[in-house]
Amino acid sequence: MAFPPSFIDELVARNPIEDVVGQYVNLKRSGSNMFGLCPFHGEKTASFSVAPDKGIYYCFGCHKGGGAINFMMEIEGLSYPDAVRKLAERAGLEVPEDEQYQSRYRQQERLWALMKEAGRFYNAQLYSPAGAQCLAYTQKRGLTKAILTRFGVGYAPDSWNALVDAMHKKGYTDQELIDADLVGQKNGRIYDRFRNRLMFPIIDVRGNVIGFGGRVLDDSKPKYLNTSETLIFNKRKNLFGLNFAKKTKLGYLILVEGNVDVITLHQYGFDNAVASLGTSLTEDHAVLLSRYTDQIVLTYDSDEAGQKAAQRAIPMLEKVGIGVKVLQMQGAKDPDEFLHKFGPEKFRLLVEDSSNRVEYQLKAIAGKYNIKVDEEKIKFVQEAADLISTLPSAVQREIYGHRIAEAGGISFESMQLEIGKAYKRRVAREKKRQEKIDLAPAKHRQPESRNIRYDNVKSAIAEEGVIAQLLKDPSLLSLAGDLHAGCFTVPLFGKVFQQVCTRYAQNLDVSLGVLTDLTAEEMSHLTGVCQNSQITAGETAFRDCLAVIRGVTQAKAVSSDDDLLAFRDKLKERKGTK
Ligand code: CTP
Ligand code: MN
Repeated sequence: MAFPPSFIDELVARNPIEDVVGQYVNLKRSGSNMFGLCPFHGEKTASFSVAPDKGIYYCFGCHKGGGAINFMMEIEGLSYPDAVRKLAERAGLEVPEDEQYQSRYRQQERLWALMKEAGRFYNAQLYSPAGAQCLAYTQKRGLTKAILTRFGVGYAPDSWNALVDAMHKKGYTDQELIDADLVGQKNGRIYDRFRNRLMFPIIDVRGNVIGFGGRVLDDSKPKYLNTSETLIFNKRKNLFGLNFAKKTKLGYLILVEGNVDVITLHQYGFDNAVASLGTSLTEDHAVLLSRYTDQIVLTYDSDEAGQKAAQRAIPMLEKVGIGVKVLQMQGAKDPDEFLHKFGPEKFRLLVEDSSNRVEYQLKAIAGKYNIKVDEEKIKFVQEAADLISTLPSAVQREIYGHRIAEAGGISFESMQLEIGKAYKRRVAREKKRQEKIDLAPAKHRQPESRNIRYDNVKSAIAEEGVIAQLLKDPSLLSLAGDLHAGCFTVPLFGKVFQQVCTRYAQNLDVSLGVLTDLTAEEMSHLTGVCQNSQITAGETAFRDCLAVIRGVTQAKAVSSDDDLLAFRDKLKERKGTK
């Protein structure tokens, strides 16, 4: 859904970036900019900047950036329209909505309200006579009244219609109950889906109840019944407990398997525990987590399934920039059992002791083989050497190499030989890859963002220049002649150029914060380009860039590296020339 551009202008004007960011980040002024600790990645020195004059924020550490709308999207996990709505509410502006949206949004709002009512209903049942047995069960599991209240835990009574009746009374329709997946259907009639279960509300990072996990009170099967996908719930994109854990001061998150583990951890002061709702960790989960932490302690169950799940989760988390440690328990199968048996202080020691993923993976390899048998010992050493050869630091390779040599009862020299062999195989592969890159020199000065490619680096740099300058001084457009979106080799810049032209022609604001239809990655890249741009907006520099883009569009020439460097230097010289 598109909002009228003039509305976006007013919205951005009425939501100064420093105020919007200031609600979440403690900012200190330094010159014309403001700095603070980045809310998107853990850090101790401030590399997060806000430029009030440009209406943008940018983190020099994690390279996230954009305007006020983007900031709301990132920090609250909102869609573009929802971020706009939130800012409108903040500034007291009325949002011009189209009808289709209105009906969908109203439907969502009804479902949120219904889920909240259902949560209240289940919660009240826990303390009614009908809930006595369930309440006793929670006590048996060692859960305090306070933590049950905090998590809004409830009881679904052993009835086919208790919830249906209660929600009907509140004015909800059969269809809405169906849409929320709170009921089952048979012969045209609906009935309570959750019966005689301990109910865990699943709450998203914005605080809405979006689903439930219902656990049986004994050993019957299935142990859990969960809300399936609805208009407001997707288990692959939400984590149990993140609504609380996102506010932790502990500086890392604990990822566990079970809802009960999360609640027990919170009860014992680990307010940083989350669980992945009974599914294995997804990429969406990893991205969501990376918004709140850069350090995770994996605490999966000590059984085989749990350890397998941990091995799968490690690369997914590392891919989004999260450092992973793995906590291993003895004497208990999961954190819940451990805490009740040994107490929080012992658990804290385990967290401190949790090893980095290399140690963990080495242990896992060791666990697969019986090194008393020669053949298995060889396999153990080779597999370990493979893993060690992937480590970037020679010091690390030496330390772990020693450890494996000792464990395998072989000399460090043979171990080194093994690692060396594995390393050479790896380097050979890497070299081949590098050769391919060298043959296409224009290909390797790529943006960090994976989804933005510079196919023609020389033109792309000039395009960066044009866009960065236009966003500083859109009147330069008068020099652009017949330049059009199709001239840009980077689609992102073409798209932005188009928006700049349209807005400029309509006398609307031209700045980063008002651009629409860009992904978070695109917006961050663009902000980085503007922040890092060496060029001062000016006619000469602008014309230089235009000439390169034109030359490229005419010849589509692949540039040599020398050309490229010369061009970059030239742009830098222009710095300050108006
Ligand atoms: N789960 C599920 N369906 C099942 C079993 C488990 O959806 N049949 C999900 C639940 O979200 C559960 C998680 O997987 O929280 C981990 O399972 P488990 O460790 O068995 O559950 P806990 O919540 O830890 O419960 P308990 O400690 O009582 O066994
Ligand atoms: Mn458990």
